[in-house]
Amino acid sequence: MKNSKLGVLMVGLNGATANTTVAGCYLIRKKLAPAYGLMTNEPLFAKHQLVKLDQLVFGGWDFANRDAARVADQQGVIPPALLNKVTGDLKKLKPMPGVTTAHDVDLFRRQKHAHKTNSLGKKLELLIANIERFKKTHRLDKTVVVFTGSPLKQFKPGSLHQNIKSFKQALARNHADITSGMLYALAAIETGSPFIDFTTNTTLEVKALVDYAKSKKVPLAGKDGKTGQTMIKTALAQLLKIKNLKLTGWYSTNLLGNPDGQILSLPEYGQNKFKDKLGVLQPILKYSDFDHSVDIKYYGPRGDNKEAWDNIDFLGWLGQPMTMKINWLGRDSILAAPLIIDLVRLMENAQRKGRGGLQTHLAFFFKNPLGAKPQGLFKEYQILEKLYA
Ligand SMILES: NC(=O)c1ccc[n+]([C@@H]2O[C@H](COP(=O)([O-])OP(=O)(O)OC[C@H]3O[C@@H](n4cnc5c(N)ncnc54)[C@H](O)[C@@H]3O)[C@@H](O)[C@H]2O)c1
Repeated sequence: MKNSKLGVLMVGLNGATANTTVAGCYLIRKKLAPAYGLMTNEPLFAKHQLVKLDQLVFGGWDFANRDAARVADQQGVIPPALLNKVTGDLKKLKPMPGVTTAHDVDLFRRQKHAHKTNSLGKKLELLIANIERFKKTHRLDKTVVVFTGSPLKQFKPGSLHQNIKSFKQALARNHADITSGMLYALAAIETGSPFIDFTTNTTLEVKALVDYAKSKKVPLAGKDGKTGQTMIKTALAQLLKIKNLKLTGWYSTNLLGNPDGQILSLPEYGQNKFKDKLGVLQPILKYSDFDHSVDIKYYGPRGDNKEAWDNIDFLGWLGQPMTMKINWLGRDSILAAPLIIDLVRLMENAQRKGRGGLQTHLAFFFKNPLGAKPQGLFKEYQILEKLYA
């Protein structure tokens, strides 16, 4: 993508992940901070003319109607000395009103900054109009939509989710099994915008949306960004497999003190995260006779600075037991932000190459890669490497 600009519209623009992505991008553009963690800056991708950071124009939706400077200040992820250097740019960035359904966490449904209509069809129309207006205002050819909103309550996929005709009919009838995530995804597809689901939501497990995107050559990717503990887990699991060391148990626990940690600790919103985290070992190891526990606890004082412990029990030569322990003091949004930029660049590139539907070559970036199974971090990297070599 040589000269034109790319719109990046984020659902949950005022969340910690989106805000850190945008503020970080502004700082890197001004050469005020390094771009460590951004994989697409590596030579492997150099000849593919990925969109440059200064070609990105940010916007998005949120229920919290505050400018991005105030949000960043409150979140405290980026130190004030750095943040002050981009306050002017962040102040200009305010979210558009979001859309909500009964699946959104109550905490946010009470927020005022949402499109005020009960009709799902009208909500979809408004989102499409938002995207088109954003393109026009900023003179953009293309936009990418990234879902970094909160986890949604589960729904049961039924016959209405099987094809786009029944899905659109259900939408017209305000069916209760259509989530806000699906509305954002459909608005993205209708406007030809690649859609990334960074969350645990099951939006892109809806066959109707996946088939529709494929028919319109719109790339989709998800789900659940593989940023911290699970990234390490999928690397170490591959090591155990290669070395023929027999896993007997893996106990993982996390402390997280940001609003996402608060929501994930509620069972009806957190259950998908557990599924995504628990689902990675068996496909890599190709056996399942081991204990695997994952725990996430909200612990306010830590804020965005999470702590993860892993206890890994395994057998070596002659069946002799050994244990490995990991204690990672990670930073939730600092780990996630470069992944989002990588995904935006690679999805724009996929669209330029004519690829529609689920982008399975991006499995490396997700805990639960849709359209593919977890294969181990290095195997997943090889798939990406082969495509870009
Ligand atoms: N940061 C990570 O390492 C990581 C990794 C994997 C997945 N995720 C997921 O990414 C998402 C964002 O994480 P976060 O830490 O930024 O959370 P957050 O709670 O800080 O931000 C979420 C934002 O989304 C907004 N929102 C919620 N529903 C919305 C809707 N329907 N429309 C518009 N806005 C909506 C909220 O108002 C809030 O500002 C979460 O679902 C999280 O589980 C994050």
